[in-house]
Amino acid sequence: MKLETEIVHGKNALSFEEKTGAVCVPIYQSATFKHIGLNQSTGFDYSRLSNPTRTVLEESLAQIMSAHDALCYSSGMAAVAQVAELFKQGDKIITSEDMYGGIIRLLRNITAKNGVEIVSIDTADLKAVEKLIDKNTKALLIETPTNPMMRVTDIAAAATLAHKHGALLIVDNTFLSPYFQRPLELGADIEIHSGTKYLAGHNDTLAGVVAVNSQDLSDKLRFIYKTVGACLSPFDSFLTLRGLKTLHIRMDRINENAGKITEFLRGQKKVTKVYYPGLKDHDGYAVSKKQASGFGGMISFEVDSEDTVKHVLETVKVISFAESLGGVESLITYPAVQTHADVPKDERDARGINTCLLRLSVGIENVKDLIDDLTNALA
Ligand SMILES: Cc1ncc(COP(=O)(O)O)c(C=O)c1O
Repeated sequence: MKLETEIVHGKNALSFEEKTGAVCVPIYQSATFKHIGLNQSTGFDYSRLSNPTRTVLEESLAQIMSAHDALCYSSGMAAVAQVAELFKQGDKIITSEDMYGGIIRLLRNITAKNGVEIVSIDTADLKAVEKLIDKNTKALLIETPTNPMMRVTDIAAAATLAHKHGALLIVDNTFLSPYFQRPLELGADIEIHSGTKYLAGHNDTLAGVVAVNSQDLSDKLRFIYKTVGACLSPFDSFLTLRGLKTLHIRMDRINENAGKITEFLRGQKKVTKVYYPGLKDHDGYAVSKKQASGFGGMISFEVDSEDTVKHVLETVKVISFAESLGGVESLITYPAVQTHADVPKDERDARGINTCLLRLSVGIENVKDLIDDLTNALA
């Protein structure tokens, strides 16, 4: 079956269709499940461990992502936090320096308390990454393209490097979704998503996803999962499944809109820089073209002054000034004061996350309405 058909149909693991004819999986709003006898189970005992609605979502995602297993969490951050629990005192994780600020906050303030060393670098430069690898290095954690500076790392080359040193490659694939970029097929061991974004796709649900390529990783993460309890609720599993069915058509429209908006932004006199991996002069263009089938809907751009930033954020009407990304509605974010506020200022400045940088998550609206909105806001 082709990917688009798998996305629409999912994996109806529990054969609801056969039993009831239901085309969509119901919301199993039950915390617990009756045992059919001593030492006998229907396969479901308690919803912290597994729930039928969530299982259908997890099996559908595993199929879509070519994964051995996929686990769904209450948010993207819950997903990252539980992956971080795979590591112990003395281990070292090398991460992309430009990542979603919440992940940097988590790793440096919470994961580090377990005695795990966190080292960050521009992972687009894998030679520099290799110099940091030592015997304690247990994982490379990359985001590509990065949030918000759109740095691109070669996933296949990063996998080869990690494996050469006995480390795992973990990829946050939130920005492109498995429709455009397929880290597990490129050699990654773990693929993470904020399912809140493109997978659920409607700005109405928080969700997190971790997909793995082995039984060993699945066993370790499922143990943490049942023990910690950051599981996705039945209702949010249903919403994520419903949103997921249109992933491919949303991504295609978003990609098309983003290409046109990037061209438009490049022609604006108040816009001084545009960061988008689909631009031929972007550092990561060649790698993006090789490893992804679309450039996505995230565009960062710099304007000429903080006054322009304020004017844009307060003038847009079709686009909402709001945190988050990846939904059908276009959103504009101010990284220095929102998503990356907790990253120290000197680090933000060094990476280009200055007070004139804006990040646009392009939605599926008519592109002319989006361009008219931006034209007005940049006047
Ligand atoms: C790339 C990326 N990863 C992870 C997260 C965290 O996801 P959530 O907000 O669902 O907890 C975000 C949130 O913005 C993100 O942008």
